[in-house]
This record gives sequence, C-alpha cells and structure tokens, in this order.
Amino acid sequence: MEVVIVPDAQAGGELIAEAMAALLRRKPHALLGVATGSTPLPVYEALTTKVRSGAVDASRARICQLDEYVGLPADHPESYRSVVLREVVEPLGLSEASFMGPDGTAGDVQAACDDYDSALAAAGGVDLQLLGIGTDGHIGFNEPCSSLASRTRIKTLTEQTRVDNARFFGGDIDQVPHHVITQGIGTILDARHLVLLATGAGKAEAVAASVEGPVSALVPASALQLHPHATVVVDEAAASELKLADYFRATYAAKPAWQGL
Ligand code: F6R
Repeated sequence: MEVVIVPDAQAGGELIAEAMAALLRRKPHALLGVATGSTPLPVYEALTTKVRSGAVDASRARICQLDEYVGLPADHPESYRSVVLREVVEPLGLSEASFMGPDGTAGDVQAACDDYDSALAAAGGVDLQLLGIGTDGHIGFNEPCSSLASRTRIKTLTEQTRVDNARFFGGDIDQVPHHVITQGIGTILDARHLVLLATGAGKAEAVAASVEGPVSALVPASALQLHPHATVVVDEAAASELKLADYFRATYAAKPAWQGL
C-alpha cells in the first residue's frame, strides 16, 4: 500500500482528481466508484474544475455508488443517490444513464444487493474506487467485524456512525437510518485501484490502525493491505499517528512522476 501525506484536504483532492483525470485520458469510459460524506468533496470539486477547463474529457465516464441508506426515498436530499447526483454526476455534466447504485427502497433488499454486485461485474468492474474512512475504521459501511470476504449486503450502522452522520440530518440522530446497503469488503477489493482519502485529526487513529496495524475485520480499512494497488492519501492531521510517516514522505518525494498514483 502506498501512503501519500499531503499538506491539507485541498491538496489531497487535487492529487486524487488528477489520478482520476489520468485514468479517464487512458480509458474514457472508466467506471469511477465514489464515496459520499464530507471527505471526498475536494476531489469532486477539483475534478469538476478540470472538466470545465477542458483539462480532461469526462463525457464518457461512468459513476457508481459505494453504499446507500435503506428506506430513505430515492429523492430524499440525503439519499446517497441524491448526494452523488448533486455532488458528482451533475457537476461533471453526466446524465443519470451513466450512473448506477443499489436500490435502497427495494422490498427485497438482498435481491437488490445481489443485483448491484451483478451490475458492477457486468459493467466490467470498478476501475478506481474512492473511499473515505469512518472514525471506527469502516470503509463503505462495513462496520467493525464485517467479513473481509463480504459482498454487497445490508448492514446496521453503529451508534458512532449514526452520531457522525447526524450532521447531514439537521443534527437529529433519530433521522439517521439504522440500515444501509453497502458494497462488501470483498466487492470493494475487486476494484482495480483503491484510493482512500482521510483528512483531519479525528481520522488519525483509524488511519494508523488500518495502515500499520494487523489486517483485521475489527478495522475494515485494514483490508486495503490485501489489495495490490491501494493508495492512502492523508493530510498532516490524519497522518499524525503514523509511525512510518517520515518513510512515507521520503518514498513519495523520490517517486518517479511517470508512475502517477
Ligand atoms: C460514505 C462512506 C463512508 C464515509 C465515512 C467517512 O459513502 O462510504 O465510509 O466515507 O463514513 O465519512 P466523512 O467523509 O463524512 O468523514
């Protein structure tokens, strides 16, 4: 796993957006897996700027969701479908036809999960999956003790995650659904390139456990250690608990530019 320490969230956003742009130049119809939450917003802003300036053509890009709340109407402003349409699909000038996600309103939730895994495979698999990390080490909504081999399925959010996400629901935890559909850890590991962005001191402990701790279902993001092409981009605050921070800095500083991320 490669760890890149950047000065701040904006620099992380720019770095990852450039990696996405480079991918789209190589493969214009690439399938980009996107995360929701606060952390990835600088990535979407930087990529939108590149598209609008003509630095990259994203018109054939395809976008897919990582997870979705169960039971929220699809047009609820905080359904992840709405969030991804608002933050990614529309700013990039894409149509809904280029976008796919699991159906959080389905009566048969497991069938919706299976359908989504099949749809991802039929689409040729995810080329680059952007991930955030929860304060408890979750990726997607694979909460601690999720199977490292899990496929897309329903999960129950921890109390901590519902507290963390209450800010999107006017601070009212009672409005935060208890259940989500999330790509499983095994599903996430199928993507060709995993890029995890973490910013802020609140993520420092989870980052250190994921990068430098043992691979463990207790820390779902530690599963990135099993992936042949995983990149962890952290700002200084999120890097503050890393024992090998100086090594990661020196390695990245000496990296040949042609390698990209
Ligand atoms: C959201 C997701 C979650 C978030 C994580 C961090 O689609 O998959 O894993 O990435 O909860 O959220 P923020 O970025 O809001 O701290």
